[in-house]
Amino acid sequence: AAAPTAALATASMARAAAPPSLVFDPHAYTELTATIKDTEGTAHEVVYRFTEVASYVAKPVDPAYQSLNVSVPVTIDGKAVDAGRAPILLANQIGGYMPSSVAGATGINASGMGGGTSRQGLALAAGYVVVEPGARGRTLVDSSGTYYGTAPAVIVDLKAAVRYLRFNKGRVPGDVDRIVSGGVSAGGALSALLGASGDSPLYRPYLEELGAAPASDAIFATGTWCPITDLEHADMAYEWCWGSNPLSGGSLVDRTTSRELATTYADYLASLHLKAKGFGSLTARNLDAYLLKTYMEPSATKYLASLSAEDRTAYLAANPFITWSHGRATFTWDDFLTHVGPRKKNAPAFDDFAMTSPETNLFGTGTTRARHFTLYSLRHENGGSARLDPDLPAKLDLMNPMHHLSGQGNGHRSRHWWIRLGTKDTDTSHTVAGNLSARLTALGDDVDTAYYWDAGHGADQDPADFIRWIAAVAD
Ligand code: DHB
Repeated sequence: AAAPTAALATASMARAAAPPSLVFDPHAYTELTATIKDTEGTAHEVVYRFTEVASYVAKPVDPAYQSLNVSVPVTIDGKAVDAGRAPILLANQIGGYMPSSVAGATGINASGMGGGTSRQGLALAAGYVVVEPGARGRTLVDSSGTYYGTAPAVIVDLKAAVRYLRFNKGRVPGDVDRIVSGGVSAGGALSALLGASGDSPLYRPYLEELGAAPASDAIFATGTWCPITDLEHADMAYEWCWGSNPLSGGSLVDRTTSRELATTYADYLASLHLKAKGFGSLTARNLDAYLLKTYMEPSATKYLASLSAEDRTAYLAANPFITWSHGRATFTWDDFLTHVGPRKKNAPAFDDFAMTSPETNLFGTGTTRARHFTLYSLRHENGGSARLDPDLPAKLDLMNPMHHLSGQGNGHRSRHWWIRLGTKDTDTSHTVAGNLSARLTALGDDVDTAYYWDAGHGADQDPADFIRWIAAVAD
């Protein structure tokens, strides 16, 4: 029954004068076999169809990055799978806002951290369609010295990839109305941004310039692990959160810088008008209590409850700041901060004065490798009357999911959110994921947020739950 529908869709799309390169060819695949271990370590033999799409835009700047791969399961352990209408996991592999290429891959990237299976490997073995997109990144520079992967290139590319998939409804296997995005760190930030900014007109000129497919770039659901986002407020948030934590080796960051930034965070937080059940308006005075009660204590509770009585007793003896009573962990915010230990970054953590951070490069432009993108750092270096370059405020909005969630929130955003972060992750402030979660919850979205106890940057401790979550929300 699927074939006539697909043929019809093809015919009507062709009438809309599609650039030929944007039409997905469902017959152009290589059948591959992979042995993929699930989260229990059980190996499955997965036969799948692998298609390399040379570019997801008609006028690529650099097809080595602006391309994607599609993997469709056919049999799992010899049993036929019909993925024709399965959810699609759009798994970006972006890290550090660096360029990310999938060109030349000879199959799905099924290997994950520590010898485990990647998220997309798990999704394929669960019967979902997997799309792995490449995207331009901050360090790309052409022969004339022009940086062509700085903001907003990376999000424009991911949106173009979504448009390509949705444009090819009926040709691309899977349900393009059930695209679930996933990414970690910078990739998590971009996943959240993709989810928040669906169909925003702000990106239209950039998408048109690339010849992106004429289709929606909204996605259905969003998974984001330790998102490094809300960048223009990340320095103040970092000092609010980790200001009192030493650097490794024990030295403290510059106290004036830290205190000044932390002080300005109160105004930013107030401007968000965040509310949370049981806390009312979130302010710089109760945000610690909100994070503690909503995330940190439940995280420790879950961890301790998972231990054997013997291991729990040992952990509690080694960490006497935790009170364990009636199966619940409680502690103070200050003790929690001490327990986390050294902070990873100096102050300012993102818009650093020397412009060596990934983010100052992300906001580079033209032949300028890096720029200050906060008034605080700009004026520290260039004097109190310095102004941000005029293009920057709009570019910051293009990179910030919070911008798209203000007020009533963008109407074409994802309504399902999976947000995860380690409690010992000091790559950014704990408020970043917390505020994102609070905002989405207040907007009425379906939000599943949890922090992994004692886990560091990039952790994913419940991958099987995420795979099940995809099925549950897509149903
Ligand atoms: C990533 C980590 C960072 O600390 C950062 O500032 C940006 C990106 C990352 O791991 O992707």
